[in-house]
Amino acid sequence: MVTRNLATLADPDADRITVDGRPVPPPEARHYLLLNKPRGYVTTLSDPRGRPVVADLVDVDARVYPVGRLDWDVEGALLLTNDGALTHRLLHPRYGLPRVYEAEVAGRVAPGALARWRHGAVLDDGPAKPLAVELVRAGVDGSRLRLTFAEGRKHEVKRYCEALGHPVVRLRRVAFGPVALGALAPGASRRLTPRELSLLRAAVADHAGGRGDR
Ligand code: URA
Repeated sequence: MVTRNLATLADPDADRITVDGRPVPPPEARHYLLLNKPRGYVTTLSDPRGRPVVADLVDVDARVYPVGRLDWDVEGALLLTNDGALTHRLLHPRYGLPRVYEAEVAGRVAPGALARWRHGAVLDDGPAKPLAVELVRAGVDGSRLRLTFAEGRKHEVKRYCEALGHPVVRLRRVAFGPVALGALAPGASRRLTPRELSLLRAAVADHAGGRGDR
């Protein structure tokens, strides 16, 4: 019997835990999913306007919540989990978890303009500066850029591209921190691998010298 020792570790699979003689229910199993969100889905569990929601696309025996949000018309990597503590850290600005986007924008972005794209811009809620910008394709009628941002400000990528004179035509998130979308089909989801999960946890760990210690 354990009394008062709050640090005692119990194995929920092997031990029957009671407090004052009453059984304590085992902790809820954790689920960690990656969804390739298609356009036209709202990042929520239910929508009062009856629009399709991301919860319609995942098949899991638990209530999992989106980690942050993608706009209705934005596609790509969206994590869902019932691990609230990890979600809180993943979204916390102090860890600056990089989000990588592929943006199709209107007009031709000349390679010579990239310095301006990398320099940053002032948006209506303050300055924004991507961690990285690469030009993937520069066409006369449209260009494709790969932009990495460390924050999840509302409509940030769209507002940033607009501020640089090239409105977004199509936007897809291809990575969230160490988790890459890869070849996952639109609308499909999969469980994170143990390696992805440990990389995610490491990205938001407060170890000495880590990003979180700043
Ligand atoms: N930036 C946007 O503009 N929209 C998103 O959904 C995510 C980032």
